Amino acid sequence: MYARLSGTGSYLPGNPVSNNELAARGIDTNDEWIVSRTGIRSRHLAHVGTTSSELGLIAAQKALEMAGVTAADLDLIIVATSTPDFIFPSTACLIQGKLGNKGAAAFDVQAVCAGFTYALGIAEKFICSGSHKKALVIGAEVFSRILDWNDRGTCVLFGDGAGAVVLEASDKPGILATAMHADGSQNGILNVPGQICGGQVTGDPFLRMDGQAVFKFAVRVLADVAEEVCKAAETQTSDVDWLIPHQANIRIIEATGKKLGIDRDKVIVTVDRHGNTSAASVPLALDEAVRDGRIQRGQKVLLEGVGGGFTWGAALLEF
Ligand code: UT7
Repeated sequence: MYARLSGTGSYLPGNPVSNNELAARGIDTNDEWIVSRTGIRSRHLAHVGTTSSELGLIAAQKALEMAGVTAADLDLIIVATSTPDFIFPSTACLIQGKLGNKGAAAFDVQAVCAGFTYALGIAEKFICSGSHKKALVIGAEVFSRILDWNDRGTCVLFGDGAGAVVLEASDKPGILATAMHADGSQNGILNVPGQICGGQVTGDPFLRMDGQAVFKFAVRVLADVAEEVCKAAETQTSDVDWLIPHQANIRIIEATGKKLGIDRDKVIVTVDRHGNTSAASVPLALDEAVRDGRIQRGQKVLLEGVGGGFTWGAALLEF
């Protein structure tokens, strides 16, 4: 029994916002700095009031349509997000309600930028256990809500969006291996250290990051976890047709590809147009490459994420 991808979908809110537009809004930055340090040229920012469940719903509807699956057929809905609409109910339950599904198990996964790889690995285990047959796995974020627009070291890096996949029980190969890891001792290098208490926000409700520490950690674990899933599936990294790393920084993406010996033209890149959309970045890039015909049935695709916690994970699949 395999868990096989039968559909992908994605959604980006509004128009692209260029680096020059951010500078024109009063942020002390410039296009040359952002492009040379990160590879980011533009990102999408949701209107005030637009939520992760709204973005995730549209991505989910597109994935269901491609899969030819109705919402009523789903028996599992998992949403990876660090920017949920509410403290509760979960964003997964909100999307379930909007889709009109009743009865599927629905819950959120909070593993920040590794969230989609975690959610996919969990869904795969549900399906391969035989307990569930049709899963919707979504990564959806409105990171613009948790950015300090006075902190130029972080606010230029992130964007909003959502991506989704439908995963079904199949006797044809699908997900070949998954891995999930965390190191909670590194919680201080990337976090949003705020909370709601007694009706007030306490602590700091904005994203804070030690960029250089995150950079070094990300390159190391992205290479390690890619090798781990390839080994588990008895596949050489040179046999991977497409690498889809978390889209945070082109320098991290290129360093990872180089460490793994995977050619630059086999690496899917969206960070230039999406920025870092956290849990949405991998399914957004996957959907783009499926819909433009680069990823073909039967090809091996390696997905990987890394983010706050620190968390990291990967999935090797035959599409
Ligand atoms: O999902 C995982 C999330 N995050 C990541 O993967 C991010 C990982 N880290 C990085 O991508 C990089 O560390 C950054 C892109 C965040 C920063 O690049 P860096 O080469 O590490 O730059 P830096 O933080 O050392 O800053 C260098 C200079 C500083 O100026 P001084 O002190 O040298 O005068 C900063 O103040 O660049 C300045 N700077 C900026 N200048 C223009 C920082 N942000 C900006 C900005 N525009 N937006």
